[in-house]
Amino acid sequence: MTGTNNNPDDGRQASARALLAWQLDAGADEAVGNSPVNRLAQPKKVGEAAPSQAGSRPIADAPTQAAPVAFETAAMPDPVMSARAKAREARTLEDLRHILEGFEGCPLRFTAKSLCFADGNPEARVMFVGEAPGAEEDIQGKPFVGRAGKLLDKMLEAIGLDRSSAYITNVVFWRPPGNRTPTPQETQICRPFIERQIEIIDPDVLVLLGGAAAKEMLNRSEGILKMRGKWFEYDTGKRTIKATATLHPAYLLRQPAQKRLAWRDFLAVKKALENSSA
Ligand code: URA
Repeated sequence: MTGTNNNPDDGRQASARALLAWQLDAGADEAVGNSPVNRLAQPKKVGEAAPSQAGSRPIADAPTQAAPVAFETAAMPDPVMSARAKAREARTLEDLRHILEGFEGCPLRFTAKSLCFADGNPEARVMFVGEAPGAEEDIQGKPFVGRAGKLLDKMLEAIGLDRSSAYITNVVFWRPPGNRTPTPQETQICRPFIERQIEIIDPDVLVLLGGAAAKEMLNRSEGILKMRGKWFEYDTGKRTIKATATLHPAYLLRQPAQKRLAWRDFLAVKKALENSSA
């Protein structure tokens, strides 16, 4: 016998499933807290009762939470200043890794599983810098180990390099939730650490993978298709390093026809390395 199911729980489960599917489609792939926070709520003044939200359940524990959070934030040191001071303390790569392990100024570290510091040979003459770790990198704690990383390995191999002759890292050291682009604030907080890393590695050639890394490290605003294949000078404060930008391997996975441009860029990197050792 067929019949209509009037159980209200089924309706609620269906809406919850639809909401979850919508969040997954939007790129959410993990929960970052157990209870919802209404970030749009006005902070509650001291002694004032929380405003009641007509017709809604009180997500709005948030007004009572918002005021102390705002107060604590105001009392905290500026995370960019603190990153600068801490990065300056590092004498070696191991120091830098250790400092980053204990650094709590970047909000990304609280949603990431691991610190993704670097991979490859610290003595390498060429250093590759990408944007941010993805899901696989977050699990393994190493940059470029997922699909884009496998392609990067093939590109390196094509010009006679591998992870024993190249050094690989990212502009930010923790995975942004859902692989979103790091915010300018997150990038600014990580910047002293990537600058210090470049200073310590002191490569002959710096290769920026993708528009985000290129714009950030070269302080430029053009798109990657304008910047790629050109040579720039990256100034560490102690010396200038030859720097170039190329297409990000993740972009090449989506646009394989563009691999020919990346191939040209990689050949130019090979030539620059040959010339700098001559
Ligand atoms: N994309 C990046 O920019 N960096 C990684 O480590 C992985 C993917």
